[in-house]
Amino acid sequence: MTYRLFEGKDHASSYWKFRISPSDNLIQQVLDFLEKHKGHPFELAVDVGCGSGQGTVLLAKHFASMVATDVSPAQVEMALQHSKEPNITYKQCVAEELPLADSSVDLVTAMSAFHWFDRPRFLQEAHRVLKPRGCMALLNYTMEMELSYPDCCSQTLNQICQEVHSPTVI
Ligand SMILES: C[S@@+](CC[C@H](N)C(=O)[O-])C[C@H]1O[C@@H](n2cnc3c(N)ncnc32)[C@H](O)[C@@H]1O
Repeated sequence: MTYRLFEGKDHASSYWKFRISPSDNLIQQVLDFLEKHKGHPFELAVDVGCGSGQGTVLLAKHFASMVATDVSPAQVEMALQHSKEPNITYKQCVAEELPLADSSVDLVTAMSAFHWFDRPRFLQEAHRVLKPRGCMALLNYTMEMELSYPDCCSQTLNQICQEVHSPTVI
């Protein structure tokens, strides 16, 4: 099963150390979309496939409460260890069966995670938990992204990524 790629403790620990957070601009775009289509109050958001939680904590500031879920116990444990936000509840569960009431959620997000899910079942589940006019944001990277690690070797990393992603002629 694909989720096993991320399941182990070592992987979760590397995720915590090296995973890039979504930019403030990206988070703001999601919030603007929700404001436009549903409006306030922003009561409950759910981050599905939260990993070690870097994106979760950025969103949580804007909601009364936040639920973050992941299939991997190690990822949930890592996120919980590093999270100080009192309004976030972490749950270990599959994306396709969320422990949430019907029509209870303002925003569902999946950051770099949707492609791992059983997509038809997850979409049905998101539809079930979302309030009327609630929104879903599926975030991911493009190949054109630039990595930026403060005090580190960003230029070298970006060169390596470009090489990996450029077509190879054999
Ligand atoms: C690429 S990581 C992204 C983690 C985090 N959202 C981020 O952006 O850093 C994908 C995450 O989805 C989780 N995952 C994969 N399949 C899942 C499923 N069916 N249900 C819930 N979580 C799943 C993995 O355990 C992993 O933590």
